[in-house]
Amino acid sequence: MELIYLLLLLILSVLVLSVLFLLYQTRSPKAMEGIPGSLGWPIVGESFSFLSDFSSPSGIFSFMNKRQKRYGKVFKSFVLGRFTVFMTGREASKILLTGKDGIVSLNLFYTGQQVLGPTSLLQTTGEAHKRLRRLIGEPLSIDGLKKYFHFINTQAMQTLDQWEGRKVLVLEEASTFTLKVIGHMIMSLEPSGEEQEKFRSNFKIISSSFASLPFKLPGTAFHRGIKARDRMYEMLDSTILRRRSGQDFQQDFLGSLVMKHSKEDGKEDENKLTDKQLKDNILTLLVAGHDTTTAALTWLIKFLDENPIVLEQLREEHRQIVASRKGGTDLTWAEVNNLPYTVKVISETLRRATILPWFSRKASQDFEIDGYKIKKGWSINLDVVSIHHDPEVFPDPEKFDPSRFDEPLRPFCFLGFGSGPRMCPGMNLAKLEICVFIHHLVNRYIWRPLEKENFVQPTLVRMPKNKYPIIVEAQ
Ligand code: HEM
Repeated sequence: MELIYLLLLLILSVLVLSVLFLLYQTRSPKAMEGIPGSLGWPIVGESFSFLSDFSSPSGIFSFMNKRQKRYGKVFKSFVLGRFTVFMTGREASKILLTGKDGIVSLNLFYTGQQVLGPTSLLQTTGEAHKRLRRLIGEPLSIDGLKKYFHFINTQAMQTLDQWEGRKVLVLEEASTFTLKVIGHMIMSLEPSGEEQEKFRSNFKIISSSFASLPFKLPGTAFHRGIKARDRMYEMLDSTILRRRSGQDFQQDFLGSLVMKHSKEDGKEDENKLTDKQLKDNILTLLVAGHDTTTAALTWLIKFLDENPIVLEQLREEHRQIVASRKGGTDLTWAEVNNLPYTVKVISETLRRATILPWFSRKASQDFEIDGYKIKKGWSINLDVVSIHHDPEVFPDPEKFDPSRFDEPLRPFCFLGFGSGPRMCPGMNLAKLEICVFIHHLVNRYIWRPLEKENFVQPTLVRMPKNKYPIIVEAQ
């Protein structure tokens, strides 16, 4: 019996490989012959070396660096199932990120496209994209964020209350903190209880389905991701219904979108959103904002431990705030918006860690770059790691040195939050969460890491593989 299963498995594998090989042959763009580089082995291309470099301490930088030395700033490869042209440098970023004349669009993986849905901000282009950004950007503006400050501050303090004398996995704690914040902002979710747990477990399944294989069969991460997305949408549906019926009035993200911008049945108004658009974009904010902020906070805490002089200077900035307080003991909105050194530490963290190592685009039309002809439909990855490690802009690039941001940099040299029409709309929220958390951390605690390893998780957002375990003591 077992032998029959093995035989069937073998036949199935041969069939799958043959189909993949045929697809590879038919999709291999002949015109890419004009671009330098290697497509590697059939079917797998250069995916193995890409993935192994990806999880190494220097990340995809070593993959890029080797090829850039051999082929120059523009080269082709076949990684993770895609024929891709990699590019780097200010010129390429300017062309790709400003999206001049709509020459490129965002290029999500198939799994991401399916989970987030067709009306997600990440899948819209042109005027529709601009409109959506306007609606979504409003509650994420500095003014819009003010009303969540108290919640963020309380959550940061409560999270840190649990840290004293304990072994802490920073990545997990940061993840819980940022998820509570976004759950509250979006739909006034209580920071603990059954609803929070449902939200959390569904989100985790959705998040891990992003980098999964594109097979929607029961038991696969992709299938589980779609199911968790459906459960999350059910939660959102009942919240939208409550908000619309006036049973539950909340001044949260969903509340303001439902009140101001949601479309009534049957009515045409392109400045308003359907329920589907609302849900797709709430999920988009969650997905785009959670892992990134979690990773940034974790890397920052790690870099501080590795750079005691920076930590001391940062601590001084936060001690000064406490020392110069006239009345009251709590961090205020004005104080958190006046942390110049902390903001530089955040920028240097985003440069050194380059949490999103490449930005993925698809050519919407033929265009030329550095003398190379790019054809409509090709995948293009902008290699941000090399931009952030360019020794001409950032001398001694491996060094963690926030003073690099003392003077404004030339455009497209630093892309921690991207640039152009797709620049991160959650930038102010991310900075606010990090500043508040760091304020309480450095004023209360000292910490030391329990492991000295530097490997990185092979996920789309770069995070320390060991989740950065530390031991924490009161100062
Ligand atoms: C430190 C934390 C964060 C980092 C490093 C970060 C980084 C980025 C970058 C680099 C981009 C541009 C990607 C590209 O051009 O391909 C981006 C876009 C985006 N980010 Fe963030 N982000 C962070 C936090 C957030 C938060 C908190 C939210 C929302 C709650 C958010 C929502 C988004 C969305 C929706 C986009 C897509 C914008 C568009 O396509 O128009 N991000 N982010």
